[in-house]
Amino acid sequence: MYRFQRDEYEKRMRWYQDARFGMFIHWGLYAIPARGEWVRSTEQMPEEDYMPFFHQFNPVDFDPKAWARMAKEAGMKYAVLTAKHHDGFCLFDSQLTDFKSTNTPCGRDIVREFLDAVRAEGLKAGLYFSLLDWHHPDYPHYGDQHHPMRNHPECSNENRDFNRYLDYLHGQVRELCTNYGKLDILWFDFSYGDGPEAMRGEKWRATELVTMVRELQPGIIIDNRLEVSGEGFGSLWEGDPKPYHGDFVSPEQIIPPNGLLDKNGKDLVWEACVTMNGNWGYCETDRFFKPASMLIKKLVECVSKGGNLLLNVGPDAKGNIPMASQEILAGIGRWMAKNGESIYGCGKAGMEKPDTGRITRKDNTLYYHLFENTIGAVPLQGLCRDQVKSIRWVASGAEAHIAKGWVYDNYPDVVFADLGPDPVLPDPVDTVLKVELASL
Ligand code: GLC
Repeated sequence: MYRFQRDEYEKRMRWYQDARFGMFIHWGLYAIPARGEWVRSTEQMPEEDYMPFFHQFNPVDFDPKAWARMAKEAGMKYAVLTAKHHDGFCLFDSQLTDFKSTNTPCGRDIVREFLDAVRAEGLKAGLYFSLLDWHHPDYPHYGDQHHPMRNHPECSNENRDFNRYLDYLHGQVRELCTNYGKLDILWFDFSYGDGPEAMRGEKWRATELVTMVRELQPGIIIDNRLEVSGEGFGSLWEGDPKPYHGDFVSPEQIIPPNGLLDKNGKDLVWEACVTMNGNWGYCETDRFFKPASMLIKKLVECVSKGGNLLLNVGPDAKGNIPMASQEILAGIGRWMAKNGESIYGCGKAGMEKPDTGRITRKDNTLYYHLFENTIGAVPLQGLCRDQVKSIRWVASGAEAHIAKGWVYDNYPDVVFADLGPDPVLPDPVDTVLKVELASL
């Protein structure tokens, strides 16, 4: 049986903490109604109203190589696709169900093509897998917190065999861990409820599940949602890791204000998962996209607090990532191409957040992310002069100097970087300075 071992854990997390930035992809039948991935539940849609989408699913433009290229060009180092979401529709050729992409007009094993494309671009490959399954007859219906038929007494549960459902769940996870090559991340979603009926932990037979996963996929990274959801942290945070502990905490649609430490004040690995608009799955009328300029700063914020950003795209029914998302990815990619070294392998600086923006750190190097202009030279808050070995503009590699002159002599405890006469920063979103520290 799998047991937590700190040294093994820290070894398997290293690439993930260096990567810092990944793509989340929510895609499935729900892209056709185009009202988000929870449409069956939010609209309490009976199965018979959802099945037409199964018979229509034919994403003629699906091109996983294009998706993988966009992720890479955006500076992302890993990508996670929904292999199965709560609606129970499988984007892979499962032998345990007919409710799968290979049985639709699409006729393709989407997961296999996605994993091949992502690996070909040199990215790490992850799959999201829903613990909930609103299609499966043995999953609780009436009275469940989320099931589309939760308010229908005629959908009572007395003839449902939850253990048979768990055999199905475990069987599909075994298929994914056996038939699709090396998986780097398994992103379960999600646990819920309280008390004896809570759908958490051993209710999923989680120890058995994780032991199987880790035997089949040594080194795989698993999220914390066998224990919690976006709400809650999990047993690693408790400082008492269960066999099915999450390897990282998964704050959702939020960046933890002060980063995340465990109960004993030890750094925790965490990843904020965030949508570009307001939906994970494609939503035709949701055009409220976060601009690239904002998301660049949010990525910097995550890294400056010791975390990762998993940024979501929701492809449409034809298999296209929305143009708005593509433009945002391209904008982030242009910044990352110049400044990625201030993100990859970086983390908390252990210093106060400066007025001008944020600081990320890698060993003896600090990256000052300048979000706003200053009057005159830029104060490198938190440093004293003899700590500074060199200053460089990250984007160009050009040398910058410490500012001298009577204006700055008033503040001998502060180091100012002289960025020249232009009062406006060259990169209006985030101009990055690299400060090599003198080894004291
Ligand atoms: C929430 C949403 C789910 C989505 C997940 C991503 O659990 O309900 O649809 O897949 O967040 O983190």
